[in-house]
Amino acid sequence: MDFENPDRMYLLFDALLNTRPGSIILPIYRNYIRNLDLAGDERVLELGSGSGIATRHLAGVLRKRGGRVLCVDSSKTMTDIARKRMRKHPNVEIRTGDIRALDIEDGAYDAAFVHFTLHDIDEAIRLETVKALFRTLRPGGKLFLREPTVKFGAMPVEAMRDVLTLGGFIEESHRLVSAPLLGPMYEAVYLKPAA
Ligand SMILES: C[S@@+](CC[C@H](N)C(=O)[O-])C[C@H]1O[C@@H](n2cnc3c(N)ncnc32)[C@H](O)[C@@H]1O
Repeated sequence: MDFENPDRMYLLFDALLNTRPGSIILPIYRNYIRNLDLAGDERVLELGSGSGIATRHLAGVLRKRGGRVLCVDSSKTMTDIARKRMRKHPNVEIRTGDIRALDIEDGAYDAAFVHFTLHDIDEAIRLETVKALFRTLRPGGKLFLREPTVKFGAMPVEAMRDVLTLGGFIEESHRLVSAPLLGPMYEAVYLKPAA
């Protein structure tokens, strides 16, 4: 999918998620994010933050104890939408571009968050993008990943594991779950080993 020029259906779905009826699906985001192993004081890098639907919940979890989110997304269209939506979240910074090229400090982040994005990263740059994400994490830092396994151009779970493992991550835990509209998903926690 071209996220510089998202199709109408995508933008409609995205807008719906930000309305009251959309709250049917929002708990699926909110409950997942609230249950992540985050104390609230972390620096989190969200890769592929899109229009900020998940970011809003991350920002809420992190606001209580001074945590912050750095969003990185390659699409100007999506980051423009996210910037508007995140205006009232001072603990969120949004950067447009390729994580491989942006000036982001190595080892500065406690956690990474990737939601419905890994499969959308061009295969030709996927491994290098994972490696760049890995570098931003401190040793012992965690990657929280949730990806579709059937719809939306999903990747096979083994292919996700392969690219993340080649990128240096170790799978700590995973669950195969399913949610209305989003369908079957792979929820996993990966670790950047301490040494
Ligand atoms: C399906 S959207 C998911 C948005 C959001 N995470 C969510 O769950 O609502 C995928 C996002 O990944 C972004 N993306 C694709 N390739 C990327 C890359 N190489 N680096 C950063 N973001 C990328 C797209 O621009 C898009 O915003």
